Amino acid sequence: MAFPLTVLLAAYEDVIEKELESEFSSCFDEYDDDSLFSLFHLSRPCLMFVADTMRARLRGAPPNTPHLSADALVMVTLNYYAHGISSASLLTKLGLTHTHCPAIISLVSGTISEMTDKFVSFPEKEGAKSTVASNVEAICGIPNVLGILASPHFRVRVSPYDKEDYGTFFSPLGYTAVVSQIICDSDGNILNVEKCEVGSTPEQDMWASSTKGKEIEKDMYGPYWLIAGKGYVQSKHILTPVPDPSNESENRFNEAHAKIQGIMWATLSSLMRRFKVLLQLGFAKESSLDQKSNIIKACCVLHNIAKKFSVPSLPVGSEPVYPGKQHSGTLEVNDEALTARQALINRVFSAPSNELRTEQEV
Ligand SMILES: *[C@@H]1O[C@H](CO)[C@@H](O)[C@H](O)[C@H]1NC(C)=O
Repeated sequence: MAFPLTVLLAAYEDVIEKELESEFSSCFDEYDDDSLFSLFHLSRPCLMFVADTMRARLRGAPPNTPHLSADALVMVTLNYYAHGISSASLLTKLGLTHTHCPAIISLVSGTISEMTDKFVSFPEKEGAKSTVASNVEAICGIPNVLGILASPHFRVRVSPYDKEDYGTFFSPLGYTAVVSQIICDSDGNILNVEKCEVGSTPEQDMWASSTKGKEIEKDMYGPYWLIAGKGYVQSKHILTPVPDPSNESENRFNEAHAKIQGIMWATLSSLMRRFKVLLQLGFAKESSLDQKSNIIKACCVLHNIAKKFSVPSLPVGSEPVYPGKQHSGTLEVNDEALTARQALINRVFSAPSNELRTEQEV
């Protein structure tokens, strides 16, 4: 007896789907929730979301590795992000050795970082901008703020024999690092991440040459500020603290500024606790910083997803978070920009503030 073709096909598809499902779900299902969290620093629902998203995007396999499901590739990579090294037991389970890891991590990091625009988005619509601004204002009293800007350093190793590279990677704090540019909101969501430069790059140069920097300084986002540290130059859209406060108004402004900037440091610290790879990104060469850039972006993507899934933070350790290199002080500051900051201070901070909302956990 012959079945109609459509029935056969439907049955066949059913089998294929079941097979695919069992292949896809098997890797993660072998672990209980606690083991998943300690391997990946993410919760099961969050991991399932990441795995689902990646399954559709991960095409091809890394060269010279045994055939692996998309989930297995994601596992290897997320485990490396969480700990900065690959867990030997996980590799054994997947039939891999440490030599397979770089190609897998590079492929998956590239794929996750391609989703940066989707999961790390800067407020563009008027409603989104005013929401960010009113949340910032509720915390520190400074109005019209679209985000907090910083250029954090991430340690890398550089071969001392690589004489040319070695010097340029030294950050102001005396270790070799790369520096990236991040903007976050007052809830610790990352709104923008771009650039990955050698550690000696001054923050202001990063900003001036970044895409967001150019857009914002060209007034593309309207009359908003970004809160930034003293390594940046006060401008029409960059709000830095007053260098030598001379009265109570300026002191109050600097306190408000420090309070909201604290959220950036807390966010970076939380990012580095969850993704310990960011504490040491491994060997770097100036000619191939793309790999490091992909990992930084991928961790920012996952940070925002983890926040959406309310994944608990990791306990506070001693992760060092430092600002980038300051400008040399000889850069010209626009008088109008200084006047605008003074007007803001006089308008908002001339009287002691009322009760402000207490700082939120990020
Ligand atoms: C505080 O000092 C600045 C700069 O000297 C000045 O412009 C401002 O008016 C002063 N504010 C008050 C309340 O005295």
